[in-house]
Amino acid sequence: MTDESSKPLWHGRFGEGPADALMALSVSLPFDQRLAHDDLVGSRAHVDMLASVGLLTEAERFAIADALDQVGVELNEGTFAFAPTDEDIHTAVERRVTEIAGAAGAKLHTGRSRNDQVALDLRLWVRRESREVIRRIHDLQTVLVRRAEECDDDAYLPGYTHLQRAQPVLLAHHLLAHLWALTRDIERWQGVLTRADVSPLGAGALAGSSLPLDPDHVANALGFAHRFENSLDAVSDRDFVAEALFAAALTQVHLSRIGEEIVLWSSEEFGFMKLPDAFATGSSMLPQKKNPDIAELARGKAGRLIGHLTGFLATLKGLPLAYNRDLQEDKEPLFDAVETLMLTLLALGGLLDTAVFDLARMRAAADVASSSATDLAEYLVRTGMPFRDAHAVVGSLVRQSIERHIPLEELVEAEPHLGAEALELLQPGAAVLRRTTPGGAGPGPVAVQLEVAKERLRRQQQWLDD
Ligand code: ARG
Repeated sequence: MTDESSKPLWHGRFGEGPADALMALSVSLPFDQRLAHDDLVGSRAHVDMLASVGLLTEAERFAIADALDQVGVELNEGTFAFAPTDEDIHTAVERRVTEIAGAAGAKLHTGRSRNDQVALDLRLWVRRESREVIRRIHDLQTVLVRRAEECDDDAYLPGYTHLQRAQPVLLAHHLLAHLWALTRDIERWQGVLTRADVSPLGAGALAGSSLPLDPDHVANALGFAHRFENSLDAVSDRDFVAEALFAAALTQVHLSRIGEEIVLWSSEEFGFMKLPDAFATGSSMLPQKKNPDIAELARGKAGRLIGHLTGFLATLKGLPLAYNRDLQEDKEPLFDAVETLMLTLLALGGLLDTAVFDLARMRAAADVASSSATDLAEYLVRTGMPFRDAHAVVGSLVRQSIERHIPLEELVEAEPHLGAEALELLQPGAAVLRRTTPGGAGPGPVAVQLEVAKERLRRQQQWLDD
């Protein structure tokens, strides 16, 4: 490589050009192009700062700003011509700015290193994308609340522990259980956003600069809550990426658990849910099949996101201060995790929005006498019997009912401590009405919960609108 324009930006120290094998391994352009917008925004702020401290004349500042605008247009329109030496998006932008603005353009990188630049770009990206993730989680919650609101008090199903029928719960209660997991996810993403909201620009390669840089100027211009306190930390910190990967993995795990229930509920064995055509898939061989692939992918992709998190933590663990090229490995898992999560949120939201619940099947599964067993024991507790004894009495009735093929109702009526009054407890639909504990699964507490959930969504919406 002899021609100047075909050399990497750092060519000065090197006699020979880079080997093809080196470029092939080190190039990050194919994936860090996503940072183009943030790179331009960051560069504009950097240039304004340089002008404000007298390192650029106004004419130079305008020349670079115009060149950055032109680069933005070229990138948007797809006319930007990448060069083989463009290792990454930062290099590509700077090269083009210099082509357009000449000597002024060559001043763009004054007082800056790609180390603080890439950290800045990624923080801008995480700050913006976290909001989009939160918006989409919020949309899914809105679907859950709407579906819960539609439910009457006779929309109930068995609640399960160990996937064994335990006690009936309102369908609204079950749907809202998933909403609360998602509210914690939103809080986690807000935490990610807060930790990302620190400007690293001015840290340079690792130690700051001898030039009169003003990192606060850049931080303010870009709306950061803080600037870095320690230049070494500024260029080596990727905690915000690890946290975003954790938030993404856990959100996806929550979607995976919803997915698992959709798989169960839409099976013929359960029959609690009919999949909407637009959100189900067919089989290439079995004409009768309607498959819950979205739910399965929500479940399957959780593994991938957990992998991104653990992989990246492994990348970080051995790194000495400050910047190491290993850190370039932050981007692919992060971009993929966020993209995967966003797609899953959208698809699962669409499915849940239009899925048809088979309330009769749900009720039939819940209206078995044995799911009121705890109510019978609690009836005995109200007569003064110690709970452990009551548990044994009812347990023995259930066992006899199974072993002797006698309906539980008959045994309850004949049991001296129970009788006709207790029989009322076994009426279909009665059990769920008695779940009165605040936060419990019956109509009273669920109505309250629904209001709390709606208020929560209103506050989230306000935050999103801010
Ligand atoms: N593409 C690089 C990254 O993503 C940019 C920083 C390169 N810095 C360096 N000293 N080589 O981390």
